[in-house]
Amino acid sequence: MKKVIIFQLLTCILFLGACQEQTQELPQPAASLLPILPAHFPPMPQPAHNPMTVEGIKLGRMLFYDKSLSRDGSLSCASCHQQQKMFADGIALSAIGLSKRELRRNSPTLLNTAWVKDLFWDGGATNLESLSVAPLTAIDEMHKDLVIMEKELAANPVYKAQFAKAFPTLPKVSTQNVLKALAQFQRTLVSFNSKYDLYIQKKALLTVSELEGLQLVEQKCTPCHSTTLFTDNDFHNNGLDDDAAFTTDHESITKGRGRVTFNEDDNGKYRTPSLRNVMLTAPYMHDGRFATIDQVLNHYTDNVKISSTLSPKLKQANGSKGIVLSLKEKQAIISFLHTLTDVSVLTNPNFSKP
Ligand code: HEC
Ligand code: HEC
Repeated sequence: MKKVIIFQLLTCILFLGACQEQTQELPQPAASLLPILPAHFPPMPQPAHNPMTVEGIKLGRMLFYDKSLSRDGSLSCASCHQQQKMFADGIALSAIGLSKRELRRNSPTLLNTAWVKDLFWDGGATNLESLSVAPLTAIDEMHKDLVIMEKELAANPVYKAQFAKAFPTLPKVSTQNVLKALAQFQRTLVSFNSKYDLYIQKKALLTVSELEGLQLVEQKCTPCHSTTLFTDNDFHNNGLDDDAAFTTDHESITKGRGRVTFNEDDNGKYRTPSLRNVMLTAPYMHDGRFATIDQVLNHYTDNVKISSTLSPKLKQANGSKGIVLSLKEKQAIISFLHTLTDVSVLTNPNFSKP
């Protein structure tokens, strides 16, 4: 009994407003803005405490592109997650944050993150709602004081009205609602209009080389880059570093998943990134160490490093490491990866700066 009450209290604290919301009339569901997913896509998971609404998405989009959410007005979420770069930023390690210090991780695409179970390269964030606190407040990113942010937003009549439309509960302008709205907008950033998607829907054909590449990916890049989303949403060590690299620095950041789980068996593991749109999101890997797709494939064939947590998939029965691919096979994989590019994202008016 006690446990139940504590749990309810916690839920209320975590999702402020969730407690009051039940008695209020909810805003319109976002039927018109919600993407109609093709049949080969899984349904989009949505948390019950933050259903997508037209007004919530609109607010999230305003916030996503608003530089006043950073301490000195120089950065928005879109500074590092740019529509014309598939919501990544095209640089290995960004140093445009408020401290001007280089970040420790490469900016990933935000496309199809609605399906990601554990966010960030090491899975250190468990939902889109809570994640944004990190970039908003981090000294190396937007470094905003959230109390000041709330005051500024509440003093802005346009925002005040939009918060009221999106969240009829009190308090309307709150950090909690900023996080909810940002999450709603990010869930709309879906990508399923590639040539591969047309092929799956029997609306386009793949070339011989593209088909060969598809088969190779299905054989050699699974179980990691599997499913319609080309990720298993799981954590693996794909042989970028050896054990020595996982030694503790002050934040254990080099441990990858091990930093989050405190389990030595997870050192050097990172969440499998999707291969969708990958031809437009160089540089690659959690630290952006590879500038080109050729370097990625050469890594898998020639440069996989042995360590205690290396994925068994990257060790062959005869004891050698890596994935065997001929030059022609590498070219086929690259032609297939091009079919995963969805150019409609780059000009989708619903995704752009409002
Ligand atoms: C200075 C650059 C920068 C800014 C500004 C920034 N991000 Fe990011 N973002 C990153 C980097 C780098 C990562 C990877 C961090 C990691 O995995 O540890 C990331 C990761 C993410 C992820 C996780 C994606 C995944 O696949 O795991 C989400 C979601 C995200 N950012 C949303 C936002 C939102 C929302 C904002 C604005 C409130 C924002 N970001 C502002 C650089 C930035
Ligand atoms: C054992 C699982 C596994 C296998 C097999 C595997 N990958 Fe990966 N791949 C990963 C993980 C995990 C990462 C992220 C590693 C990191 O950043 O530390 C990754 C990263 C990548 C990236 C970089 C993506 C980005 O956004 O930075 C590409 C491209 C890629 N893999 C392609 C392939 C291809 C092509 C194959 C097959 C020839 C393959 N992978 C086989 C697990 C795997």
